[in-house]
Amino acid sequence: MSNVYTVAVLVGSLRKQSINRKVALALAGLAPANLKLAIVEIGDLPLYSEDIDADAPPAAYQVFRERVRSADAVLFVTPEYNRSVPGVLKNAIDVGSRPYGKSAWSGKPGAVISASPGAIGGFGANHHLRQSLVFLDVPCMQQPEAYLSGAGSAFDEAGQPSESVKPFLQSFINAYGQWVERNKKA
Ligand code: FNR
Repeated sequence: MSNVYTVAVLVGSLRKQSINRKVALALAGLAPANLKLAIVEIGDLPLYSEDIDADAPPAAYQVFRERVRSADAVLFVTPEYNRSVPGVLKNAIDVGSRPYGKSAWSGKPGAVISASPGAIGGFGANHHLRQSLVFLDVPCMQQPEAYLSGAGSAFDEAGQPSESVKPFLQSFINAYGQWVERNKKA
């Protein structure tokens, strides 16, 4: 049997009806047999400060770091806020990057997909996020690029992707399955 890789999925929106959460859940359902996706929640992480992280780091930091560390791969599904990464997602990235020298992200094959009701599909957030991933040593899938525009009408009431969006999500997650296999951490 081929390997099965666990994927920590980070969603950059805390909104109950988040389009990006729907994207993440749809990808979990469409994932190829070698990927097992699970959302890692980021909404309860205190804003990062080295002061609170010093002697007795918050339990939420430790739980989050362990969840990322124990995953084989990391997938980011994010909206764009003011042409960049939402603060809540950047905060999670910062929390996972410390303590210095013990980053939870290091070497895990990653991918980014952004979704927006707007016309450019979160392009700015998608690429700002990639900048951090370079520094964090996350080999990030280049193709297919995934900017889901006009995403306000991409899902039905039950969170199912429309027939026009589903093939795009399917090809993205299939490619990511191959990317994880090729770039798995030794
Ligand atoms: C937005 N939105 C937005 N959209 C976009 O395409 N580019 C942007 O720069 C911004 N900026 C922005 C800032 C802030 C503070 C908010 C709250 C929203 C709109 C955004 O794409 C929309 O609210 C999405 O529905 C958010 O994603 P979720 O929560 O549905 O996953």
